[in-house]
Amino acid sequence: MARKYKLAVIGVGKLGEALIAGLLRKGNLTASNISGSVGQEKSIERVRERLGIESSLDNREVARNAEVIILAVKPQNMDRVLQEIADDLEPDQLVISVAASVTTKFVQDRLTKNIPVVRAMPNTPSVINAGMTGLCMGLYANQSHKNEAESIFKCVGETVFVDESLMDGVTALSASGPAYLYVVIESLAEAGVKLGIPRETSTLLASQTMLGAARMVLESNAHPALLKDMVTTPAGCTIDGLLELEEGKLRVTLIKAVVKAAERARELVNTQNAAPVKVKSTLS
Ligand SMILES: NC(=O)c1ccc[n+]([C@@H]2O[C@H](COP(=O)([O-])OP(=O)(O)OC[C@H]3O[C@@H](n4cnc5c(N)ncnc54)[C@H](OP(=O)(O)O)[C@@H]3O)[C@@H](O)[C@H]2O)c1
Repeated sequence: MARKYKLAVIGVGKLGEALIAGLLRKGNLTASNISGSVGQEKSIERVRERLGIESSLDNREVARNAEVIILAVKPQNMDRVLQEIADDLEPDQLVISVAASVTTKFVQDRLTKNIPVVRAMPNTPSVINAGMTGLCMGLYANQSHKNEAESIFKCVGETVFVDESLMDGVTALSASGPAYLYVVIESLAEAGVKLGIPRETSTLLASQTMLGAARMVLESNAHPALLKDMVTTPAGCTIDGLLELEEGKLRVTLIKAVVKAAERARELVNTQNAAPVKVKSTLS
């Protein structure tokens, strides 16, 4: 059956917006090929202004009219949204869930009718087509669904298929990852400021260095430790900096951060009614 839209995004929030912006930027889809839905009336205007696409509060209509439906609501809202749209979907459509912690089985069980499902874990650099997406297939997804999902996320960056058991790890590493790396860039830039470099220059030095180092790893295929050795002249200044990093336990802190985030990713879908964690204020 021919449908009005190629793609629908249910939940055009931060991630949904990043994906749509990246797809429009790449030019494979136009605004008229994409529709969306949001949770609040006021968000419809935001989506129109920022992306130029139509959105609505009617998830059922949005789901019915698209060939591919990306579910980008919070994990806690997935159960409700899936039950809402289940009757409107047919097996010739493809459902892609980007929700952390939500398994393909969770989605399939609620959609019934053997709807093909792909689980994806993209990240926000998708907005500038520099995203990284981990993907895995549900029980009813075949090779053509795999290709379809891959082609969507390839438009906004790199893709990799993994076993579903690894998806919480992917969530903690590459979906949360930009946040960790922004902290690293921010800290390096602060160091430059401390040494008298203007903030703007310092941020450029730090972020372009991060980009260059990442590209060296990707393009040389060399182990990061080997690349590090190439920067570290015996008795030079880099080794002193590295010793400080070792003393500050940078490596173990990063490893523990990703492991902790993966543990949290495992439980997100079950926290629908959980009260926000109270953080004890140290301010009087
Ligand atoms: N942020 C990331 O970097 C990232 C990376 C990978 C995966 N994800 C996944 O992407 C999903 C969304 O995360 P986010 O950071 O983009 O959150 P977000 O900014 O809060 O976006 C959620 C969106 O869902 C909409 N929404 C809420 N209830 C809805 C309903 N019943 N029907 C339709 N839309 C509804 C909200 O609408 P309103 O705006 O009107 O409230 C909002 O636009 C999550 O499952 C997350 O695990 C996020």
